[in-house]
Amino acid sequence: MNPEIQEWLHLLVRMAHLIAGIMWIGTSFYFVWLDSSFKPMVPAPPGVDGELYMVHGGFFYRVEKRHFGAGEAPPGLHWFKWEATFTWITGFLLLWLVYYSNQGAYLIDPSVKALSPHAATLSGLGFLVGGWLVYDLLFRSPLAKTKLINPIALALAGGLVWVLTHTFSGRGAFIHLGAVFGTIMVLNVWVHILPNQRKMLKDASEGKTPDQSLGLKAKRRSIHNSYMTLPVLFTMISNHFANLHGHPQSWLVLSLLIVAGALVRRTMITGHKLPATIAAGLIVFLVFFTAPKAPAAATTSGGEKVSFAQVQTIIAARCTSCHAPKPTDELFVAAGPPLGIMLDTPERIVNLAPRIYERTCVQKTMPLMNRTGITEEERDVLARWVSQGATNH
Ligand code: HEC
Repeated sequence: MNPEIQEWLHLLVRMAHLIAGIMWIGTSFYFVWLDSSFKPMVPAPPGVDGELYMVHGGFFYRVEKRHFGAGEAPPGLHWFKWEATFTWITGFLLLWLVYYSNQGAYLIDPSVKALSPHAATLSGLGFLVGGWLVYDLLFRSPLAKTKLINPIALALAGGLVWVLTHTFSGRGAFIHLGAVFGTIMVLNVWVHILPNQRKMLKDASEGKTPDQSLGLKAKRRSIHNSYMTLPVLFTMISNHFANLHGHPQSWLVLSLLIVAGALVRRTMITGHKLPATIAAGLIVFLVFFTAPKAPAAATTSGGEKVSFAQVQTIIAARCTSCHAPKPTDELFVAAGPPLGIMLDTPERIVNLAPRIYERTCVQKTMPLMNRTGITEEERDVLARWVSQGATNH
């Protein structure tokens, strides 16, 4: 595909994904809030569980929460189903554009596993399908009625994180965890939640008493979706945080963030403060756990004086194939330098010294997937140059 068109397509799909996602998660948050905000009516009319008055944009609204008995199906019911579906479709397209269509540039990290682009794409798709099958079969199995189910489900999620982070690049692993959760959430809507509610309505409209256990089953899947929401949102923006997905123990970082996200959601649903407090504790732990350890070379600003010529030689060999006005790396030939970052002149190199240090010497997430084969000695030289003042002479 023409790379310019690919860039525009990327923008279009990303915008669509963002908007659909806001509508989906927005309604989900809204209903959780509604559910916890209804006030009982006195005297309560039959079928009404609570009511709520709201004001928005110049008008006043009154909403009733209700259940339907035999022969009472409501007219013109609105179903919230396309938000989730459209989010998934655009998300899948985006996954394809960013991770599968460019020879696995962001997905494959040879230092984790030297997958071929085909193998990486197939594994990604396999995780999406397999993730749903394992989850759904587990919750259809007799185990689902026992107390063991939640620990088992958590352990499986942890196992998935482990396998993903030992298959893909850090960001590839994080996004796939989000994609697996997102897929489960959408399929929960279509396979369990909507059909059960349709069945209840059909019974009601045929004059039968709707089977409330169907509603409870739908509710259970809906609760699972709730707990996955915040972890999914985090993984969707996680590629901006190389210190997290590039961490040597990225599996632990991601696992703890999933738990923290689920705990915060619990507080949002129940109003109890304890889960969010535990989540805050986990985050504080992560702040310390992921604090970058400065490379040895940088702590001793001594050692041999590094000349700027040495730095320029390394940057020219390892960085400017991407970070120059006209990149030569096939991934960026058409798109231009990533994030507009250019390291082609002494001034630009000196200005960016702190970020060069952070990404190349501390996180070691640059060069991207080490496509240019930088050595540890070269990282060391850059670190020493920064610790000696990062000057251009
Ligand atoms: C194969 C292409 C490629 C090579 C080679 C490469 N980079 Fe990058 N660089 C990227 C991409 C893509 C991004 C944006 C995504 C990201 O931040 O991870 C980026 C972003 C950056 C950023 C800005 C992000 C920030 O955190 O401030 C800096 C600084 C950077 N690179 C430095 C370097 C240095 C220094 C080298 C050489 C040692 C290098 N890069 C080599 C592709 C590359």
